[in-house]
Amino acid sequence: MISIKNLSKKFKNETAIDYKDITFESGKSYVLLGASGCGKSTLLNMIAGILSPEKGEITIDGQNMCALSQKEKDLFRIKKIGYIFQDFKLITDMTVMDNINILKLEGVDTSRADDILASLDILDKKNKKVKNLSGGERQRVAIARAIVKSPEIILADEPTGNLNFTIGEAVIRQLTNIAKGKTLIAVTHDDRLCKYFDHVIDMNDMTGGRYDV
Ligand SMILES: Nc1ncnc2c1ncn2[C@@H]1O[C@H](COP(=O)(O)OP(=O)(O)OP(=O)(O)O)[C@@H](O)[C@H]1O
Ligand SMILES: [Mg+2]
Repeated sequence: MISIKNLSKKFKNETAIDYKDITFESGKSYVLLGASGCGKSTLLNMIAGILSPEKGEITIDGQNMCALSQKEKDLFRIKKIGYIFQDFKLITDMTVMDNINILKLEGVDTSRADDILASLDILDKKNKKVKNLSGGERQRVAIARAIVKSPEIILADEPTGNLNFTIGEAVIRQLTNIAKGKTLIAVTHDDRLCKYFDHVIDMNDMTGGRYDV
């Protein structure tokens, strides 16, 4: 279970976001909707331990994330969280397989890579450089890299942001299938995709206020 309480983030440029309390139950899928800039990516980054809140609490399976050092947060993320970033963060000059195998440096077992690439219909691309793939193929490589370690928690920031609806819907079907039994928190701008998730959270209602001070 992931619980956020009294959470607030302030950036150096004085943008501040207050979040209302949210609980994400283990094994369920959630989709976050909300206007651009309302704080969706910031929330995922705080859950992943990449950003720290100014105040409030993020508890993951009983562990208070804010009590951990940055190194401990990084280790926690490597072990438990698969993160599909809004901008993929793939190394485009490397092949699909090398983008996945690079995780071995973090101690990740990548032996399931072929099976996962096959389940995402991109096994035939495994020796291609990422820069030679289409947007939809890159999206699926980003998903494969995030889930190869079988994380308990999957964070997916606009996993269909660069795709047309038909391909985006196929990717969401694949992602929600793969995430069965895990906790999935995804962000989308497309409310036609909400039906694939257990719960829909409107972040316009869940950010108590976004204000420039
Ligand atoms: N590193 C940063 N420094 C300063 N301000 C930031 C930073 N990151 C985010 N912000 C601000 O915080 C607010 C929330 O940003 P965030 O990226 O979380 O929005 P979002 O809901 O993910 O938007 P989008 O749907 O466009 O991706 C925005 O006003 C943004 O400008
Ligand atoms: Mg965002």
